[in-house]
Amino acid sequence: MKRDFSFVAAGARTDVFVGEGAYAGLDKRLAAIAQGRWFLITSKKIFKLHGQLLLAGGAGRVLSKNPLFVPDGEAAKTWDVLGELLQELMRRGLRRDGGVVAFGGGTVGDVAGLAAALALRGVPVVQAPTTLLAACDSALGGKTAVDLPSGKNLVGAFHAPRLVVVDTAMLETLPLRAFRSGLAEVVKTSFLDAAFHRAMARLEVPLAAREPTAVAEAVRRSLAVKARAVGRDPFERTGERAALNLGHTVGHALETASGHRLQHGEAVAWGLLAALRLSVARAGLAPRTADALMQRVMRLVSPPVPSPAAVRGMPGLLMADKKADRAGLNAVLLAGPGRPMLVRVETAELARAFDEALGRYNRVGWVSPGFRA
Ligand SMILES: NC(=O)c1ccc[n+]([C@@H]2O[C@H](COP(=O)([O-])OP(=O)(O)OC[C@H]3O[C@@H](n4cnc5c(N)ncnc54)[C@H](O)[C@@H]3O)[C@@H](O)[C@H]2O)c1
Repeated sequence: MKRDFSFVAAGARTDVFVGEGAYAGLDKRLAAIAQGRWFLITSKKIFKLHGQLLLAGGAGRVLSKNPLFVPDGEAAKTWDVLGELLQELMRRGLRRDGGVVAFGGGTVGDVAGLAAALALRGVPVVQAPTTLLAACDSALGGKTAVDLPSGKNLVGAFHAPRLVVVDTAMLETLPLRAFRSGLAEVVKTSFLDAAFHRAMARLEVPLAAREPTAVAEAVRRSLAVKARAVGRDPFERTGERAALNLGHTVGHALETASGHRLQHGEAVAWGLLAALRLSVARAGLAPRTADALMQRVMRLVSPPVPSPAAVRGMPGLLMADKKADRAGLNAVLLAGPGRPMLVRVETAELARAFDEALGRYNRVGWVSPGFRA
């Protein structure tokens, strides 16, 4: 399979392959990066579903067939799991000429990426994402992390993958809710790029139907937009990479306030609605455009309405955001499709915009098809 694209961020090059059959030849590609032993990190559930497919392309000269397993979901992202992974990698003989393949959703990618960043002061990592969220977003860009009891992603490192390899056949087994949650990041990214935004008019219906070529195109376009931002601003210092956080300030606060009953993408979808609403007042976004973009979020992600307790708890958590100080925070808003901007706002303004967005969907009696948060 032909490489989709390559890019360089902070001196590190990442090659990206997307499409069905993307694991073919993986073994050779790993060996071209590092000739020593490579270790697979995954969860038992993911390995049972798709491990053989990955090994069919990956196992051979360099990749060990015996994976290191982490717990499923967010439980993988703990200090303890990270420590166990590092000890096990050492016990199995990882050397500086070896590497790590992260095979799973964003949680596996984050903890395995951090283990690779720390082991022997850093060995190469390859990201093989299996959820839509990881495929279109978290696998690329080099952010790795585990959580602390006091908050998510509080310990981490930038460690760019050498290779991102997305076999889109993986995504067919994703439950509908997880797929739609991943679509939130696709929709967000499409708002940041005019060409992607235009393509969404054509992609929206086949994407909602999970049509494989549309899914592959959406993943490719999302990764390309992210790669551009990361290439220009690898460590999130100039604001270009920060644009990718559109919808995430309210999203993170709401996800936490819901006790994680809202999935990440669902919470981000509500955050996008709040950001669009505020963009009309503070970034000059045309009301009709805001409306059209909000409807796209609702059609593609269909997030459940958050519980009253989550709605009450969200504003307080905005203050705890890493980016907030007493006076407020720099929020990503949208002047138009493809025109993100950083605007200084008070946290109360963001909370009000969220209330207004929620009020609007409560008025029309919004019911997410089948999901309750
Ligand atoms: N590093 C970054 O830049 C970045 C960006 C966004 C999010 N994240 C992190 O990503 C994590 C969320 O990732 P996620 O949404 O992928 O969740 P996840 O990794 O918890 O996966 C969700 C569930 O889907 C299952 N699953 C995975 N692949 C599957 C498949 N192909 N078929 C069926 N089931 C499958 C998993 O076993 C798990 O139960 C969060 O911890 C978040 O902080 C990181």
